[in-house]
Amino acid sequence: MGSPLATNVEVHEELGSTQQRARELARAGAPHGTFVVSKVQTGGRGRLGRRWGSPAGGLWMSLVLRPRLSTEVAARITQTAAVGAAKTLRELEVEARIKWPNDLLVNGRKICGILAEASVESVPVAAKKVGAEGGRRVDFVVLGIGLNANLDPEDLRVPEGDGATLRCELGRDADLLALLGSLLSHLDFELGRIDDFAAILDDWRALDCTLGKRVRVRRFGETLEGVALDLGPEGALLLQTRDGVVGLFEGEIEQLRCQRSP
Ligand code: BTN
Repeated sequence: MGSPLATNVEVHEELGSTQQRARELARAGAPHGTFVVSKVQTGGRGRLGRRWGSPAGGLWMSLVLRPRLSTEVAARITQTAAVGAAKTLRELEVEARIKWPNDLLVNGRKICGILAEASVESVPVAAKKVGAEGGRRVDFVVLGIGLNANLDPEDLRVPEGDGATLRCELGRDADLLALLGSLLSHLDFELGRIDDFAAILDDWRALDCTLGKRVRVRRFGETLEGVALDLGPEGALLLQTRDGVVGLFEGEIEQLRCQRSP
């Protein structure tokens, strides 16, 4: 593939989940740059354990990253990947926007989902060094990306009107190999500057469709409502609620119609 993110490549016609397969490979010691892609996934997974419909025509892929990062910096990977994926779509003149934290939408409909799952290991105190602050170090991250490419929205089997596809946006099929090459190149660039997260977040803001909106956020069984003000320095959503500003790192967000302040 010519990308440092895909030096060890597995291509499948059909697989349960590239995420699951990449995780198995990583557990067995697969190096940084291990890349798994499948034409079809029969058990694709999304955030919060949701099913991710993955028929032929989409780009369903997972990468093994061994980033030698602290857990804090590794947490930046999803938003960093969202910026890379959005820029890939923008290059095709598809007006992708990022819904916090990392869904890519076109005209309010989801075209791409991103799932980053880290495996963390404890580091003995004597072995602590930069990149292992707090005695915890990221062993690997599996970064999964699902992009609804050469599909019709009805192929996705999501409620009508919820899903967008590249075919629909472009009015033609995309060259999947070229798309993959561009995505890997953008991801490599963004991940390569993850230490400069302020710059990545500036790009995230420029691509965002959440900030300034009145939203409802569900997380850990509670529901919060307020106005999405901005991002904190580590990507937390700063939500202005009736009780003050809350910083959120997790949650399912829903945009509310009413734009009044809390
Ligand atoms: C989301 O819920 O938005 C994240 C969806 C991530 C889907 C991708 S498709 C490739 C990889 N394999 C999976 O099973 N999930 C991820």
